[in-house]
Amino acid sequence: MMNVLEQQLAHLVDECRPYTAQGKVADYIPELAHVKDDLLGVAICLPDGSYIHAGDVHHKFTIQSVSKALALCYVLMEFGEDYVFSKVGMEPTGDAFNSIAKLEETVPSKPLNPMINAGALAVTSMILGDTAELKIYQFRQFLATLLGVPVEEVRYNEKVARSEYETTDLNRALLYFMRHHGIVEGDVDEIIDVYTKQCAIEIDCFDLARIGRILSGNGEDPVTGDELIPRRVVRIVKAIMTTCGMYDASGEFAVRVGLPGKSGVSGAILATGKHELGLSDVGFGIFGPALDSKGNSIAGMKLLELLVERYTSR
Ligand code: DON
Repeated sequence: MMNVLEQQLAHLVDECRPYTAQGKVADYIPELAHVKDDLLGVAICLPDGSYIHAGDVHHKFTIQSVSKALALCYVLMEFGEDYVFSKVGMEPTGDAFNSIAKLEETVPSKPLNPMINAGALAVTSMILGDTAELKIYQFRQFLATLLGVPVEEVRYNEKVARSEYETTDLNRALLYFMRHHGIVEGDVDEIIDVYTKQCAIEIDCFDLARIGRILSGNGEDPVTGDELIPRRVVRIVKAIMTTCGMYDASGEFAVRVGLPGKSGVSGAILATGKHELGLSDVGFGIFGPALDSKGNSIAGMKLLELLVERYTSR
């Protein structure tokens, strides 16, 4: 039985679905291009850890750049903020997610933030493990802890990972550039291997919403109350999601939605509530693969905008 809020959410998805026609599914990673472009789904994880949902929530999709926010949590927990921010900054760029421009302009040549590709690659290069497989295992293990599932249930899509591994010359270029400047160490192909698998991890709207709920609850598991991410790390990551999570549309997202959010080119959006909002202490997981020109889910952004407009006191 649908409750009233769920019925309203279903209407909202119907209202926003036409916006998918104005966007385009990402095809620069060839394997991503096969998905239907009019999909739209949303799950909301409520304060007690239960969910409401509407639309195409039963599709799995790859996490893509949403993983950047989670990899940032992982390295902050593992190495502390002083080390992490000695390698990557915390300032927005106003450039596209894969831009190399600021890397050359900034001296020393440190990526400006962990949400753009350069910064995310620097973060991925920190993940512990002797081999790429062990490193990606560490990250899967971290995600499994957040999702409350065994690590075997956190899998990456091998086709998507390989498709990106074979085509991602720009990310290789960013890494070579940063290795030259001493920001990253090690084998570029191995870092690309970990990064492309990290981006190809398959999740759904419920997973994103749960993670959003954990972030809105200062890192606590909404069901058990266990601390999954330290409060200080959550604060840092939410701040960086707010200023940099939607790349060069982060300002627009702040005006239209006003929540910490992180997008991915699969059409994923992770967003997390804030205490002062009516919809506090909830997490949002959105999937809408048709993207706008900046690589964010076009209908997903609209859906969040309307949700905040209608259900919060912002
Ligand atoms: O580095 C890439 O190109 C992808 N694996 C992730 C990029 C991404 O999701 C950017 N998001 N909007």
